[in-house]
Amino acid sequence: MSNTETLPRDLPEEITSRMSVEQETHARDPRALAFADAYPTRPIPAQGKVNTDPIATTPSTGHDELWRAIIPETRSRANDLHLPIVAAFAARLCDAHPEADRELVMVATILHDTGWAHVDQSRIVSEGFRGSGDWRQAVIRFEHEVEGMKVARRVLPGLGYDESFVERVCEIIDGHDTRKAAFSLEDALVRDSDRLWRFDQAGIAMSMEWFGTDASSYMARLDAEIVPELISAAGVAMARADIERNNALLRTEVIR
Ligand SMILES: [Fe+2]
Ligand SMILES: [Fe+2]
Repeated sequence: MSNTETLPRDLPEEITSRMSVEQETHARDPRALAFADAYPTRPIPAQGKVNTDPIATTPSTGHDELWRAIIPETRSRANDLHLPIVAAFAARLCDAHPEADRELVMVATILHDTGWAHVDQSRIVSEGFRGSGDWRQAVIRFEHEVEGMKVARRVLPGLGYDESFVERVCEIIDGHDTRKAAFSLEDALVRDSDRLWRFDQAGIAMSMEWFGTDASSYMARLDAEIVPELISAAGVAMARADIERNNALLRTEVIR
């Protein structure tokens, strides 16, 4: 049964139109095909420096006005933890991929989850993490992507970003959780950054709470399910370093 068959309420067309597109269709999208052609080796090898130290040692810098513009959105769903940490991973992945458009990656990363502040807060965990079926395809996740694009279109023009840049940001926000196929290197680096936060201690703690699981089970799940989803080799190296460090720190070989 698809999500659309179990919907308990009327949804706007901007949500249902996205939910009705199959993942195979995304994979055949010209943008996905062009990206796959351009980067046939997976995970994508790094072109620059790869830093696998704990992420706290290299926070992101800059974009102060953008951060100030989204302070209300940081108050939802631990975004005041999630967004800066994901941004720090994004900056690191951009160091590993100097061929990527760094500004696009950073702005899209900073904004990617701001839409959580504009959805029904009571459904974020119950549907977005613990609902029946594929949690990544929960209705609330499509809603947070659409709302995140609205935030981008509201705040970016006033900060000097032109329309085509704003639309490229929105293309990355749109489907960042719900679409399997990445459309560009920048899209891929945002996705990897978003996943990498889960390997750091703050992300482990929040995710254990959201998914309702224990540390050793969660660490095993990261290794088995999330590492294979990473698109960049730099992301894989960072993830593996964090798994090793945090398994040792949390004594998961004993406490299981
Ligand atoms: Fe998200
Ligand atoms: Fe996120």
